[in-house]
Amino acid sequence: MAIVATINAKNAGQFRLADDFVVNRLGFGAMQLTGKGTWGPYSDPDRAVDVIHRAIALGINFFDTADSYGPWYADRYLAAGLKGAANRDELFISDKVGQTRQGPGLWTPLGAPHYLRQQVEVSLMTLGIDHEDLLFLHRVDTHYSIAEQVGELKKMQDEGKIKHIGLSQVTLAQIKEAQKYAKIDAIENMYNVGDHHDDPIVDYAEAQGMAFVPWFPLNTGKLVGADSPLTAMAKKYDVSPAQIALAWLLKRSPNILPIPGTSSLDHLADNVAAANVNLSDDDFQQLSHLTK
Ligand SMILES: NC(=O)c1ccc[n+]([C@@H]2O[C@H](COP(=O)([O-])OP(=O)(O)OC[C@H]3O[C@@H](n4cnc5c(N)ncnc54)[C@H](OP(=O)(O)O)[C@@H]3O)[C@@H](O)[C@H]2O)c1
Repeated sequence: MAIVATINAKNAGQFRLADDFVVNRLGFGAMQLTGKGTWGPYSDPDRAVDVIHRAIALGINFFDTADSYGPWYADRYLAAGLKGAANRDELFISDKVGQTRQGPGLWTPLGAPHYLRQQVEVSLMTLGIDHEDLLFLHRVDTHYSIAEQVGELKKMQDEGKIKHIGLSQVTLAQIKEAQKYAKIDAIENMYNVGDHHDDPIVDYAEAQGMAFVPWFPLNTGKLVGADSPLTAMAKKYDVSPAQIALAWLLKRSPNILPIPGTSSLDHLADNVAAANVNLSDDDFQQLSHLTK
């Protein structure tokens, strides 16, 4: 009789940031739950909420979002999906502020301290929470110093509105500068098996005890399509290319928390099942050469 492994995010193992933040290492990114160009509502709002419910059922307890997704639509679906969950105390949100939106596909960083504060306050209301579990500065705005931007987040942390502070799409120098003004607990940069030029940042984050949340873990779908460079390896393991991409991230470092995004219930289960794929050391190395 075939042994069917349980599909559950806890099979990916756990990452502990602090006693108040322990998550399964396979999370969910809410950016796909919006209209085209991350603008406007998702075409089927009920399904967006269903996806969150199913993610919880599959053991996901780490949800990545941002005020700028929609704007606000992803947050609304996430809030509706998390509301009333039996294990709500064990579900964590990572949120981001510091990007403004001008239309589909258009993003402009804004790090004015009073704007960052406004966005945290409105996000707390929209998400129906009294503090941010993990709050990322979505982008460093070069019109303001890092001291001003991270300093404002630190003030809100001291006020109890933010538990943990993170930085998104940053250089090593920016991380080290930010560490002068607050404890930085997480980095969220673009990173996947096809583009892992930020290896030194992953290693630095691991050495510092920070989480590393790779965005575009499937290279926004390019690693999973018909011409995926992962097809042969996927055949070898009898799994999907998406599962190979995620298994590579999980093996790369114990502080990596992948957050694949999807609006499909089937793809969601496919992604969580990646927690059951154990790449051999040789295959991991072979895949690592995909990035030149
Ligand atoms: N910090 C930042 O600056 C930043 C930037 C971008 C994204 N993010 C975060 O990172 C998360 C992940 O990024 P992402 O959603 O843009 O890209 P991604 O996870 O790399 O890829 C998502 C794409 O892959 C498809 N997909 C997902 N699972 C699949 C599967 N098993 N088989 C086939 N196709 C699959 C999705 O389409 P379907 O919906 O059809 O499944 C979607 O088109 C976002 O949701 C967001 O939370 C952060």
